[in-house]
Amino acid sequence: MATFLEFIQQNEDRDGVRFSWNVWPSSRLEATRMVVPVASLFTPLKERPDLPPIQYEPVLCSRTTCRAVLNPLCQVDYRAKLWACNFCYQRNQFPPTYAGISEMNQPAELLPQFSSIEYVVQRGPQMPLIFLYVVDTCMEDEDLQALKESMQMSLSLLPPTALVGLITFGRMVQVHELGCEGISKSYVFRGTKDLSAKQLQVIDKKTIKKTSNPENDLQKIDMNLTDLLGELQRDPWPVPQGKRPLRSSGVALSIAVGLLECTFPNTGAHILMFIGGPGTQGPGMVVGDELKLPIRSWHDIEKDNANYVKKATKHFEALANRAATNGHVIDIYACALDQTGLLEMKCCPNYTGGYMVMGDSFNTSLFKQTFQRVFTKDMQGQFKMGFGGTLEIKNLSEIFGQRRIRVTTVARNWADAQTQIQNIAASFDQEAAAILMARLAVYRAETEEGPDVLRWLDRQLIRLCQKFGEYHKDDPGSFRFSETFSLYPQFMFHLRRSPFLQVFNNSPDESSYYRHHFMRQDLTQSLIMIQPILYAYSFNGPPEPVLLDSSSILPDRILLMDTFFQILIYHGETIAQWRKSGYQDMPEYENFRHLLQAPIDDAQEILHSRFPMPRYIDTEHGGSQARFLLSKVNPSQTHNNMYAWGQESGAPILTDDVSLQVFMDHLKKLAVSSAA
Ligand SMILES: *[C@@H]1O[C@H](CO)[C@@H](O)[C@H](O)[C@H]1NC(C)=O
Ligand SMILES: *[C@@H]1O[C@H](CO)[C@@H](O)[C@H](O)[C@H]1NC(C)=O
Ligand SMILES: *[C@@H]1O[C@H](CO)[C@@H](O)[C@H](O)[C@H]1NC(C)=O
Ligand SMILES: *[C@@H]1O[C@H](CO)[C@@H](O)[C@H](O)[C@H]1NC(C)=O
Ligand SMILES: [Zn+2]
Repeated sequence: MATFLEFIQQNEDRDGVRFSWNVWPSSRLEATRMVVPVASLFTPLKERPDLPPIQYEPVLCSRTTCRAVLNPLCQVDYRAKLWACNFCYQRNQFPPTYAGISEMNQPAELLPQFSSIEYVVQRGPQMPLIFLYVVDTCMEDEDLQALKESMQMSLSLLPPTALVGLITFGRMVQVHELGCEGISKSYVFRGTKDLSAKQLQVIDKKTIKKTSNPENDLQKIDMNLTDLLGELQRDPWPVPQGKRPLRSSGVALSIAVGLLECTFPNTGAHILMFIGGPGTQGPGMVVGDELKLPIRSWHDIEKDNANYVKKATKHFEALANRAATNGHVIDIYACALDQTGLLEMKCCPNYTGGYMVMGDSFNTSLFKQTFQRVFTKDMQGQFKMGFGGTLEIKNLSEIFGQRRIRVTTVARNWADAQTQIQNIAASFDQEAAAILMARLAVYRAETEEGPDVLRWLDRQLIRLCQKFGEYHKDDPGSFRFSETFSLYPQFMFHLRRSPFLQVFNNSPDESSYYRHHFMRQDLTQSLIMIQPILYAYSFNGPPEPVLLDSSSILPDRILLMDTFFQILIYHGETIAQWRKSGYQDMPEYENFRHLLQAPIDDAQEILHSRFPMPRYIDTEHGGSQARFLLSKVNPSQTHNNMYAWGQESGAPILTDDVSLQVFMDHLKKLAVSSAA
């Protein structure tokens, strides 16, 4: 009998599914009383190289309103060659090709280990992959040069049959024609006014058609684009002192969406948008061109003093919806020191399943390596990025890509919430629950006021403690949480302090960026985002995970912190002194050199595999970047109480945040209070 944790792990490995509760209350009403909703985290495209390729069409339930797919949970009558749909109870005849089935000879989709299965089916002619590059040219030469190189690199990773197009923008928007006439021809539009679909239809259909004409020598087009990218120049319009460049991001994206909409509707396509600054004119502008007026902050938004946010957001939402309707994906790569308008544009990658990447410059390994990873292929040589994917949920989920259908069927037991609440409580998956509640909180934060969200989260936590904790009324010391709930309050503690709910230390673009990735990643990565992982390296033994707590910061330790977005190496005071004195270069201190190297090697491993690539920070005791570590650890020792802890144990933190201990004490008090 597998343990409960093994059961959860097996199900995640097999189906990419984690449920907050793994025994379900048997009525909808009871489900609403569980505080944490019955919900799941699902990774539909989880890589499963071990799945057998099924080369035939899935068998569907014959009831037209159902169309569920035959799965291991269906009841089968092998003699009568019938199967009962487990969603609508319809009895279905097997198709003639299944005449030979028996208990001994079952098709793969009926075997319990294939609760997730993938059908690879060919429907009609295979459509080419389409990539439309939309490039801001208002950027420094260094950035533009680096971006050009990255784009040229990406062309070499595309299959020879891929279709490509290029739009560049600054003050004007140019749609380049990649046809036989070479590079001289392009259509130029003003960036101040949106174009109607009709205007686009008349002018531009030719352009994309040329690119897509199967008669064309596609190799040549590829060459032409490589040349064309090489010749790209910065926007030629002069930028007067005290002004921002005029940048037509909104119209450029509108033209890109419109162009694909009228040339390749309902065909998988990626728009790759590269921006080096905020849109400053036309629909979708997020700031004016006067430099002395800064781009909106959270403060401005709170005071309703952000003039462009609503209008720009509406513009991009409309584009995102149009693209999503057509199966077109919008990726945004924003690299600049200041904000670029991700807050207003975030719906584009969100609604369409695109990537959002944010960096300081295009000439950084963060951008270059992340962008290269966009074109990663799986074991079967297919791009990992999706084209025209849709997700259908029927109490069961299916994925229709152009040619692949993945079917995942999951089931859990029911229990009566009145008489069997223990069974339900024992099935609690606190990690999945924490992430699900966090996502609900982020969703609320995006749609409501900030402080209300914290209050809501606290209320839910107190209710969970009241319902599932053991305690005597008004006796906080008596409070006990069973093991399945024991880590949950700590996740909530870190969530409250995280950049997903605390916005005022971040710009609106940063908040949008962090939240976007938090809503997207799988459970393991999402957990790291809420409660970063801390490893310690010292002479006292092999590297070990340590508490995310200020008491873990010791002079003779090196710490490696992984927050998902950052990989930080922190050298304790003594280690930092030794490093400064260059001990690592002396032959007699070889083991010190090894100690310094170990976290670097571990960091490299993460930097090489994660998408998007994290920011790498090397810091030490007293270093300015140490603040990133200090802001994450539980401030168990602060300037207020450090005497109680003595001098040697860990680093005191200058903060007025409450510590986990204070938080827990308070929580217990509220949970057991008869007044609550
Ligand atoms: C799931 O299916 C069951 C049985 O067909 C049905 O009673 C229930 O309402 C469905 N739930 C949802 C959320 O659609
Ligand atoms: C990009 O950065 C590298 C290292 O920081 C530098 O050597 C290189 O010159 C930069 N590229 C351009 C085009 O300026
Ligand atoms: C682009 O390709 C066409 C042929 O398809 C060729 O005539 C033209 O010279 C090419 N332009 C460049 C700049 O290579
Ligand atoms: C993305 O869009 C979905 C659906 O509209 C929404 O529920 C979710 O909160 C959005 N995510 C973010 C990070 O904005
Ligand atoms: Zn059915």
